[in-house]
Amino acid sequence: MSVEHHLLQADNLAKHYPVSTGFLKPKGLVRALDGVSFSLVAGKTLAVVGESGCGKTTLARQITMIESPTAGHLRLDGVDIASSSADQRKALRPKVQMVFQNPYASLNPRKRVGSILEEPLVIHTQLNAAERAEKARAMMARVGLRPEHYGRYPHMFSGGQRQRIAIARALMTGPKLVVADEPVSALDVSIQAQVLNLLMDLQAETHIAYIFISHNLAVVEHIADEVIVMYLGRVVEQGSKREIFDHPRHPYTQALLAATPRVEAEQRQIKVMARGELPSPLDPPPGCAFHRRCPHASEVCRSEVPVLRQVDNHMAACHHAEEIG
Ligand SMILES: Nc1ncnc2c1ncn2[C@@H]1O[C@H](COP(=O)(O)OP(=O)(O)O)[C@@H](O)[C@H]1O
Ligand code: SF4
Ligand SMILES: [Mg+2]
Repeated sequence: MSVEHHLLQADNLAKHYPVSTGFLKPKGLVRALDGVSFSLVAGKTLAVVGESGCGKTTLARQITMIESPTAGHLRLDGVDIASSSADQRKALRPKVQMVFQNPYASLNPRKRVGSILEEPLVIHTQLNAAERAEKARAMMARVGLRPEHYGRYPHMFSGGQRQRIAIARALMTGPKLVVADEPVSALDVSIQAQVLNLLMDLQAETHIAYIFISHNLAVVEHIADEVIVMYLGRVVEQGSKREIFDHPRHPYTQALLAATPRVEAEQRQIKVMARGELPSPLDPPPGCAFHRRCPHASEVCRSEVPVLRQVDNHMAACHHAEEIG
């Protein structure tokens, strides 16, 4: 046994999607996730950041067992999900829950709050109706919903309140891990902090772990312990929140930070730009996938893929990480 118990461990995780590229043309392959490794201990938050299309939701779908990875390993509570039996998966399911970006689409409009919250208990427990109702009411109080909300329909709530309902539903089975995919991105900025604070309070109470997915570094700085920065299906930088925010070594991370309003003036003055668009994931550039957008790109960047390696006290995948810091 290791000293520190890893709740979740990803080892070279990959998910490739075959896609049609046109009539009678050979199928292409989108490497949505291409060799991602990390670990997460109980009670902590790992943030996954990167712009749209870099593979964040794909990662979420593997962790929550909505899909099966193409390659690599994913261990949840010591069980390798890929090689697990149907019984093991059934036992794992209530331990990992998900909160989606859009609280308007993720709640069944025809169900009342009470039955939305009780549904996971119907699926995963033997509790009777009275016991389920009692648990639902207790959870409502914990997430800041009022008792009279029990009989109401989702459309009667604001976006922030709906996300409280979604969070309550995710917690009903007492999960060890919640994967939250852009959980505040659809909310007004004034509401975002309330929902983030709720997530953090719940973590302090229950020691739950989060995979917190966001394209917004300002949000991530609020909630993360560890951070993974992704680009075209790969991890380009990885480390503690303070390392990533205070000593970013990868030009892509620096560009993301520079584009974040929150970040202190001193950071913003770093002259970094991510020029141009994200390349097609069907046809990623050779060498460093970031090289066509990188202000520091050199000859080696165009031909050799940089591997993720130790730089200072964290990991970065850049040929010039030492010079750039
Ligand atoms: N089911 C799928 N079939 C084909 N391509 C997909 C599928 N799901 C996602 N992709 C592609 O994989 C890449 C990563 O997508 P996604 O994980 O949704 O990124 P993100 O959540 O970071 O925006 C994108 O290029 C996307 O178009
Ligand atoms: S490897 Fe080269 S192109 Fe890639 S981020 Fe580093 S400097 Fe830029
Ligand atoms: Mg996504």
